[in-house]
Amino acid sequence: MSLDTLVMPDAEVAGLGTTAERRAVIAQAGAVPSREWVIVARGLTRLYDMGGETVRALRGVDLAIRRNEYVAIMGPSGSGKSTLMNLIGCLDTPSQGEYWLNGHQVSKMTDNELARIRNREIGFVFQTFNLLPRATALHNVELPLVYAGVSASERRTRAREALERVQLGERMLHRPNELSGGQRQRVAIARALVNRPSILLADEPTGNLDSGTSEEIMRVFGELAEQGQTVIMVTHEAEIAAHARRVIVLRDGLVASDDRYADGDPSRRDGRGDPRPAAG
Ligand SMILES: Nc1ncnc2c1ncn2[C@@H]1O[C@H](COP(=O)(O)OP(=O)(O)OP(=O)(O)O)[C@@H](O)[C@H]1O
Ligand SMILES: [Mg+2]
Repeated sequence: MSLDTLVMPDAEVAGLGTTAERRAVIAQAGAVPSREWVIVARGLTRLYDMGGETVRALRGVDLAIRRNEYVAIMGPSGSGKSTLMNLIGCLDTPSQGEYWLNGHQVSKMTDNELARIRNREIGFVFQTFNLLPRATALHNVELPLVYAGVSASERRTRAREALERVQLGERMLHRPNELSGGQRQRVAIARALVNRPSILLADEPTGNLDSGTSEEIMRVFGELAEQGQTVIMVTHEAEIAAHARRVIVLRDGLVASDDRYADGDPSRRDGRGDPRPAAG
């Protein structure tokens, strides 16, 4: 499948809004975005100083993402995907530009405020799962709630619910080395969901999985998106990106393309054949 063959129509697609609406919210510098916009970035720049030489990792990214969108971010190595994910995930702040997450201006936050908003609003899924090896699935999923100061009984209940959401109700007492790769990644997804975050962020979530297991994980993401979870994932693979309803391609620290697709198109959902661009 080639992403180059797609067109981006300026038409409402499955409630995702039009290009004109996104341009309008981006254009209003300094304005608090209305509630439907979970992410608004205006001219996001990230420079790294490498011993006198400046690396321009992001060079003015404009982005507006609505609640409930399912977005894939693609682009060549070094194009700025992880840098952008770190900003979106409140792990880092921009050198210039505005970043609004759920109505809060992150670009002006202190480190403490960043940590607080990150714990509340963001669930992370990593390529390498990042589970505690000696802890059970249940305990791994409970951990973010320990940091959030939730009581033990409530932690247990919520961790169970999160594991059931990813169909791991039968494996709660297994440790990571007693689980398959796909099951480990599902534990990591449950852990990311347990705080009920506004956004699920995943950087190459299938990078360590074989293609069958990758499809299994994409089914989980698809179900979560259908239940209304906002999902943003970075991937190198077009087959994985084809599961999302919007594909943003970065090149040299800028958005090179931004394509949306009609919901529920079976030719895309199965990963078979060329994706059909949204009508418009
Ligand atoms: N901490 C850092 N210090 C200096 N330069 C950095 C740092 N992190 C990233 N860069 C540079 O910024 C640019 C963007 O890097 P980034 O990691 O965002 O790319 P990427 O799109 O995620 O690539 P990949 O697909 O290889 O993961 C690269 O040129 C990289 O060398
Ligand atoms: Mg990266």
